[in-house]
Amino acid sequence: MYHKSDVVVVGAGGAGLMAALELAGKADVAVLSKVYPTRSHTGTAQGGVCAALGNMEEDHWEWHSFDTVKGGDYLCDQDAVDVLCQTAIDNIYHLEHLGLPFNRTPDGLIAQRFFGGHTKDYGKAPVHRACYAADRTGHMILQTLYQNCIRQNVRFYDEYHLLDLIINDGVCQGVVALELRTGEIHTFHAPAVLFATGGYGRVYKITSNALTYTGDGVAIAIRHGVPIEDPEFFQFHPTGIYKMGILVTEGARGEGGVLRNRTGERFMERYAPTLLDLAPRDMISRDIYLEVREGRGIDGKDYVHLDLTQLDPAVVHEKLPDITDFVETYLGIDPTKQMIPVQPTAHYAMGGIPTDVDGRVVVDEKNTPLPGFYAAGECACVSVHGANRLGTNSLLDITVFGQRSARHILRFLKEGQHLPLPPEADGPARAEVSRVLSSTGEEKVAVLRAELQQCMDDNAGVMRDAEKLRTARSKLVELRERFTHIGIQDRGLTYNTDLTEALETGNLLDIAETIVLGALNREESRGGHYREDFPKRDDAHFLKHTLIKRVDGKLSLGYKPVVITRFQPKERTY
Ligand code: FUM
Repeated sequence: MYHKSDVVVVGAGGAGLMAALELAGKADVAVLSKVYPTRSHTGTAQGGVCAALGNMEEDHWEWHSFDTVKGGDYLCDQDAVDVLCQTAIDNIYHLEHLGLPFNRTPDGLIAQRFFGGHTKDYGKAPVHRACYAADRTGHMILQTLYQNCIRQNVRFYDEYHLLDLIINDGVCQGVVALELRTGEIHTFHAPAVLFATGGYGRVYKITSNALTYTGDGVAIAIRHGVPIEDPEFFQFHPTGIYKMGILVTEGARGEGGVLRNRTGERFMERYAPTLLDLAPRDMISRDIYLEVREGRGIDGKDYVHLDLTQLDPAVVHEKLPDITDFVETYLGIDPTKQMIPVQPTAHYAMGGIPTDVDGRVVVDEKNTPLPGFYAAGECACVSVHGANRLGTNSLLDITVFGQRSARHILRFLKEGQHLPLPPEADGPARAEVSRVLSSTGEEKVAVLRAELQQCMDDNAGVMRDAEKLRTARSKLVELRERFTHIGIQDRGLTYNTDLTEALETGNLLDIAETIVLGALNREESRGGHYREDFPKRDDAHFLKHTLIKRVDGKLSLGYKPVVITRFQPKERTY
């Protein structure tokens, strides 16, 4: 089936909805979502969205910029960070005016809590900067934006799986998608396409990411010759529920929770004497790893405890109701009385499709835009998070850059028009779907995906070295070969999860290869990328962004300079 609109937004999480809302009434917009919009992964974000409102104490957006750059281990583009942190304040009030039910101070202002790496006066002490709605901030953002989109009559195509991007003569012209309910393939013809397709944390086994987070948009962009920027930087959140990876918000530590090892020691006192349990995530995840490796994991196992028992139970119930519910449901634990077993969980891709601050996808080190193609949110790399994102900056990123992308699209539409589609624009997507649907090989997709995830956990996780990464590289070659011999059982067209899981696994494989290549090449340690064989940051050789492209089926490696304005790289201490 053929559809025509001015804009196609792919993804209905925070970035996609924010963009759609900004476009509503000004352009004809179609929003495609793999899931019903309010089930998007934004809904799992818990602890907050930050802005230097200064509601609880003095704060300034410049301090927020500094923290973001330092937290990102100086790999952030500082011009983009300033846009993020300065715009943050207006954006939070915009969300408030749209109806978002933020927690309040006693005198009615938006309440703010502590979060990792957010400080006052350029690193002197923690600052209350994270605005929050209990521990359901992402959920509330999603509901608020979705309801406002419905109010503005935004047109949604729910449960459409992205299959392809249409690029003709270097110009983006639309997308091809699979309607999950019917198996029908649809072509969406539009001069502007915004990918807001989210991240790819399902490349790992222990992850806080939704099952849908399989990097579809990023992998499809790579197949069209668009580079992926900084894929080696993947963030592990320190507190995932042991063995399950489900997030236990950093807000729990913001409210006073502490991490303890098997002896009951508050071990962060040794690693980060100023910020303690509110040091950035990359550091705490490594510190947990070291505690475990040195035998101080609980019962000698690979986890530590998050201790909320010293908090006032009323605070836990009022400000952390969802995580209370999660640990009661999944572990049978009352967090006001018992400690929570936690381990680092794959949480966030700092890398992604390179864009400028207006969401335009750029395809080389000179930032040349690909006309009509935009990306925002976790699938994009602006780069405001550098080598390690600070908590609560992702909900901010999706609102700021979702909105800015939409505003640029409106300017672009004054010139961008519907060019005729190339013949058989949906041909490659149809061929791929029928290849999978008719596959009869002996390899099972679920087995390949599980092996991929285990391999990435073991070899490209919190701690890496050349040997592990080479092991991962060989395993990926093997999995790639076996993936050509898959066989699926369901040949139907209605909600065929055999088909979509195969497509997703192909996407995960494509992305895993870039993570491993980027990580092998980057012989230094910075932010979320820690090489035990190169434990120091090496600005002389690696203060630059990685750009990995697929050329003639092979990955090629390039670089792009980091934009440094006010904050010169320094050693990070907390
Ligand atoms: O810990 C959290 O609530 C996560 C927040 C984030 O990733 O920004």
